[in-house]
Amino acid sequence: MKPVKVGLLGLGTVGTGVVRIVEGNQEDLSSQVGSPIIIERISVKNTEKPRDIEVDPSKITTDPWDVIRDPEIDVIVEVMGGIAGTKEYILEALERGKHIVTANKDLMALHGSEILAKAQEKQCDVFYEASVAGGIPIIRTLIEGFSSDKIMKIMGIVNGTTNYILTKMSQEGASYDDALKEAKELGYAESDPTSDVEGLDAARKMAILSTLGFRTNVELSDVSVKGISGVSKEDIAFAKRLGYEMKLLGIAERQNEEFSISVEPTMIRNSHPIASVNGVFNAVYVFGEAVGETMFYGAGAGAMPTATSVVADLVAVVKNLKLGVNGLKQIVPYKQKKLKSDEDILFKNFLLLHVDDKAGVLAKITQVFAEYDVSLDSVVQQANPNNTNAEIIIVTHDASKASMNKVLKHFEELSVIRRVKSHYRVEG
Ligand code: NDP
Ligand code: HSE
Repeated sequence: MKPVKVGLLGLGTVGTGVVRIVEGNQEDLSSQVGSPIIIERISVKNTEKPRDIEVDPSKITTDPWDVIRDPEIDVIVEVMGGIAGTKEYILEALERGKHIVTANKDLMALHGSEILAKAQEKQCDVFYEASVAGGIPIIRTLIEGFSSDKIMKIMGIVNGTTNYILTKMSQEGASYDDALKEAKELGYAESDPTSDVEGLDAARKMAILSTLGFRTNVELSDVSVKGISGVSKEDIAFAKRLGYEMKLLGIAERQNEEFSISVEPTMIRNSHPIASVNGVFNAVYVFGEAVGETMFYGAGAGAMPTATSVVADLVAVVKNLKLGVNGLKQIVPYKQKKLKSDEDILFKNFLLLHVDDKAGVLAKITQVFAEYDVSLDSVVQQANPNNTNAEIIIVTHDASKASMNKVLKHFEELSVIRRVKSHYRVEG
């Protein structure tokens, strides 16, 4: 029963959770894999930083290369974050025959295919369960659980920070800035939270999920992205009044073997199960051609939930080691990628317009929708007590993204419209 030795890159939010689980659950983990799992070396940036856990100082280094080059180490757990340097460490570790567990969606979304190819060449495992939806085992579910089905749609709340912010704004009337500050303090946000709030983090996760789900090579540039920084409390209140919740949704769809992948703030009908996913919780709704609707729910960020996924990957690596089957390809993205054009991407829209309060305005607006063949579901006009404009709230039927873009362009030239205050996709 030779111990399996692990090198840990990073001892921040997730790294601390990994040490806690490996040490706290040692008996159970080693009974599953047949050997003790030892954290042999750890790299950090600042050795003086106070930590929530006690670690033998002789294990700590500030140079990740000390960990990568240590011949005793079998598996590298990368929970450091970043892209350029981290990629170099991981490729070198693979070159040296070490297996990799990572929580780094930025790296996997941008360089996953190169890293996985290297892993195969060296017959090493690269597992990245924690990179999407923290504690939810969604990657293994897509690879194994859906292996017999054809996935038609993946819809996810895959960023805990933004879901936390939107929930705080919706349920407690918190300001955007206060809610973001709390998410940072709780360890949910990235070191630069711009990637959370502008949707990039969710887009990277959707690129990973749709590559796995559709068996095609989805890249970050294939995902259309809009974040939540423009969402106001007023927009959330309008959504509620109409029977919707505002969520940052990743939506990946397959139709006639063409794909569309997007991340944007979306009004989701409040009867849909994903509408009630609040706080830091994530959920991934998967519609399979044969199975129909399924949904997977859990904590999407935070030390312990994320660490459970990291350590589960570690267990999988060690089990493979025992069986001598490391480096097996988990999925083959064999399908040719064909992205839908804007003419073929259809969804409902919510629009809030500030307009002149005078006769004939509504007629001019509805004429524009008719010109571009966009049919309306509901139109409500109300006075705005705060200024002399009127507000018009419009919900369309399914309309193509191309037609809606033409409507919005035309509105820029329509003098009766003071401004398009809000525009959101509507689902459900
Ligand atoms: P933290 O910022 O909390 O921790 C990063 C760790 O890496 C720290 O220990 C830091 O050292 C160390 N580190 C950073 N740069 C260097 C460097 N150049 N050399 C040596 N050590 C370095 O990040 P998280 O734990 O939050 O996130 C880690 C990874 O997990 C990221 O890829 C993130 O996207 C991903 N992830 C995070 C989740 C979360 O809930 N936080 C959830 C899912 C995935 P020091 O402690 O000295 O500063
Ligand atoms: N910043 C990320 C989030 C961490 O808020 O979801 C989990 O990947």
